[in-house]
Amino acid sequence: MDRPRIVLTRRIPEPGPRLLQDAGAVLHVVQQDDEAAVPRPNLHEAAADADVLLTLLTEHIDEPLLRHAQSTRGVAQFAVGYNNIDVPAATALGIPVSNTPGVLTETTADLTWALLLGIARRIVEAHQYMTSGRFSIWGPQLLLGADVGHGTDGQQRTLGIIGFGRIGQAVARRARGFDMRVIACSPHFNGSSDVESVSLDDLLIQSDFVTLHAALNSDTHHLIGERELRLMKPTAYLINVARGELIDEAALVRALQHCVIAGAALDVFEREPHMAGGLAKCTNALLVPHIGSATVATRAKMATLAATNAIAHARFERAPHCINPDVYEGNAYRERMDRLRT
Ligand code: GLV
Repeated sequence: MDRPRIVLTRRIPEPGPRLLQDAGAVLHVVQQDDEAAVPRPNLHEAAADADVLLTLLTEHIDEPLLRHAQSTRGVAQFAVGYNNIDVPAATALGIPVSNTPGVLTETTADLTWALLLGIARRIVEAHQYMTSGRFSIWGPQLLLGADVGHGTDGQQRTLGIIGFGRIGQAVARRARGFDMRVIACSPHFNGSSDVESVSLDDLLIQSDFVTLHAALNSDTHHLIGERELRLMKPTAYLINVARGELIDEAALVRALQHCVIAGAALDVFEREPHMAGGLAKCTNALLVPHIGSATVATRAKMATLAATNAIAHARFERAPHCINPDVYEGNAYRERMDRLRT
């Protein structure tokens, strides 16, 4: 009986491993230490005889690695984003690639709002004020922040959403509860009854909160740089839970240092796990370590989806969430799978 070898670059939560084992797979985890990166030589070596690669967004699955993975029937990514994988190279080599869409939408939208409220109302600074024993008396000027819905000036606040896919839309739904005006800019979005479609520049000029939910690709790399930051209101906040490379992080640090914008709340960074120089010292920045989908239930759903995709790859079946479905119609796929089946 075929007992496919599934190589996990790092450990994933249950029920992922159990589902894979119940399907008869033999599991090999390249990096067991959850706090450590996967050494490239170890990944290279393990990829050589992987029937399926189950990857995290922390590993670069580039063309040389895919070429080296001669036995691989598919790559199952444990994430919705897949900018770490060279998908065109995988398609050319006849390798299906899958991801985990849908299950992390609401959880990531929740974190967006946690960051938005947290930076606007200075929650982390306030917590530090308490825990460092500085709270001696209530004060009318103490830790003043910004209003999120209607301000005391009676003005409705505007939320600008860049990238209006599943997560962007879930963020917009939550904005209704705050009675905000919502505008969005996204390649395939032309507006709806309660969300106006605007250009990127108009969005930056009009928004009190700008939140990023675009996929990272060559068009969106450094979508927000010095010019774009200067278009924003000096009272506006920038939130990013998508990918760090959407923002020119060095330009953002300069903008925060010189109060070009009021603040930024970031879940993702340009060179994770590193931050641009000076960012950690910006008191108008709220920084968290890429925890957009980090709830127990959502990570379990992602594990289920990644395992389901991986099992389909292992069985030479169509993966339920394939990123490059055209691969199944191509000669490269047919030839590769014919070779691997024999
Ligand atoms: C997380 O960043 C993901 O893409 O799933």
